[in-house]
Amino acid sequence: MTRPESELAAARLPDRRELTVRIADPDDAATILALIHEAFAARPVVGPPAEALADDGALVADRLAAGTGYLAEIDGVPVGTATLTSLDGRPLLSRIGVIPAARGRGVATFLLEVIAEHRVALGDTEIVMLVRLDHPELVAGWQGVGFREEAVRDAHVLLRRPLPVVVEAPDADAMRELGRRLAHVLNPGDLIVASGELGAGKTTFTQGLGAGLNVDGPVISPTFVLSRIHRSRNGGPDLVHVDAYRLGSFAELEDLDLEASLGEAVTLVEWGSGVAEALTTDRIELDIHRGTDPDDDTRWVSVTPLGDRWDRAAVAAALKED
Ligand SMILES: Nc1ncnc2c1ncn2[C@@H]1O[C@H](COP(=O)(O)OP(=O)(O)OP(=O)(O)O)[C@@H](O)[C@H]1O
Ligand SMILES: [Mg+2]
Repeated sequence: MTRPESELAAARLPDRRELTVRIADPDDAATILALIHEAFAARPVVGPPAEALADDGALVADRLAAGTGYLAEIDGVPVGTATLTSLDGRPLLSRIGVIPAARGRGVATFLLEVIAEHRVALGDTEIVMLVRLDHPELVAGWQGVGFREEAVRDAHVLLRRPLPVVVEAPDADAMRELGRRLAHVLNPGDLIVASGELGAGKTTFTQGLGAGLNVDGPVISPTFVLSRIHRSRNGGPDLVHVDAYRLGSFAELEDLDLEASLGEAVTLVEWGSGVAEALTTDRIELDIHRGTDPDDDTRWVSVTPLGDRWDRAAVAAALKED
């Protein structure tokens, strides 16, 4: 199958079907309009109906001509959409919706991830959203994927999510160097949730983190012990290194009694996504990806500070320092 130039990302679903996201073009206006209506009409209506239902073809076509419409498809069948407009010069995510038949398959989350990556490539540092005050369940859902409440505007909550800082690590030493640099902006109580396939470099990154924090080594894969505490050599925070790969649930993670040390230590949980978030809503998400060329060791490292404990610009400066 040839791929359209506008395609941004593709993922294989558990049933082997393919989920893709591409930039929509003006020809997609009718498709997008139908998706918006189907997705938003299916929401529980509290108070006046969503403004999205009033969208018409001309409005949608204008937005698409601006190149800011996104379309998610499963095996080429449109299932979800999102549009970016702007609010006080910041990218505003709107009209993000998935048709009922495709819900529960991670389409909205994938769409959000792909849009985030696309915006990072275009130089943006954050995205914002407006969610109606009378939909607290939607606000909670967006908080689960990293949005935080910034303000209340009329009948809406303004939510903000920092975009990842993306840096390249050509080899294992470069990965350790990134960990060492990140240590400069960490404080006692910070949680890092690391994800990335087997052998991505999560433990290698943690070795650098340990060096930067100046804790006792060696930092090695904690697989057989689940968690290991590395004591500070200079009165700074200890490093708690956890492997959640074999943990099935948050309950098991709690059994490790991490909470006792969380307040004073820096904690890095490998394979923690989906499990460790419950420990604290503020966290740094670390995602490590390889490219498609098996002969190339380069890793792409995305670091997203979620919450007020860190300043994204400071994290970016630390990771990119010369
Ligand atoms: N650019 C790179 N970044 C990180 N590691 C690299 C890189 N290039 C090669 N490597 C090697 O890849 C391996 C990464 O292993 P590591 O244990 O850090 O991965 P992991 O993500 O912790 O895996 P696991 O899921 O098994 O815990 C190491 O052997 C490291 O030397
Ligand atoms: Mg590891």
